[in-house]
Amino acid sequence: MPTNIAVYPGTFDPVTNGHLDVIRRGAQLFGELVVACAVNITKQPLFSLSERLDLLKTVTRGLRNVRVESFEGMVVDYVKRQGSRVILRGIRTFSDFEAEVQMALANRTFAPEVETVFVCASLEESFISSRLIREAAALDGDVGRFVPPEVLEALRGKKRALHAQVGSHRKGK
Ligand code: COA
Repeated sequence: MPTNIAVYPGTFDPVTNGHLDVIRRGAQLFGELVVACAVNITKQPLFSLSERLDLLKTVTRGLRNVRVESFEGMVVDYVKRQGSRVILRGIRTFSDFEAEVQMALANRTFAPEVETVFVCASLEESFISSRLIREAAALDGDVGRFVPPEVLEALRGKKRALHAQVGSHRKGK
């Protein structure tokens, strides 16, 4: 059966203008877009799950067909529980492509009925990553162009944790 619901999964630590661009494109393509914030066991996020969810909800509040949720476990299982068969992902660069195809093929072996659909992230946002934003913010760089104002404010509130992260990296060298 065709589905009109797509799931856009990610860690969103924090959500950037690049993510928002993918969300907007997805919202135009599908009847309903679920932005699924991962309880990521392989990363130690700067923002807690509830902070990441709150920021996502705030920056997507104008998009009527976008819903923000968290998920744990395999993404394909979550997608099926949502009554969907589509994982939406954004591709920024050629290196993204390689990693994304690997993930899409792995997900297909776990659930052949779930399809991954890619959208091209816009050129202006193509070099942004959450790590880059966190690093620049920790070094007091101006990241206002790359994140929504609410995220910029939240990053200011994380100054102490961001500086501690940079400090521990330097000590580790
Ligand atoms: N604009 C800006 N940044 C983007 C972006 C875009 N369009 N697309 C990706 N990024 C950034 C992310 O913010 C992230 O930055 P960071 O590593 O600096 O924090 C980086 O690029 C990598 O993004 P991504 O590959 O999307 O990783 P992720 O951690 O955000 O999400 C999951 C990965 C959650 C989708 C994946 O791990 C997953 O599905 N986990 C569930 C468990 C599972 O099913 N595993 C089997 C998968 S085969």
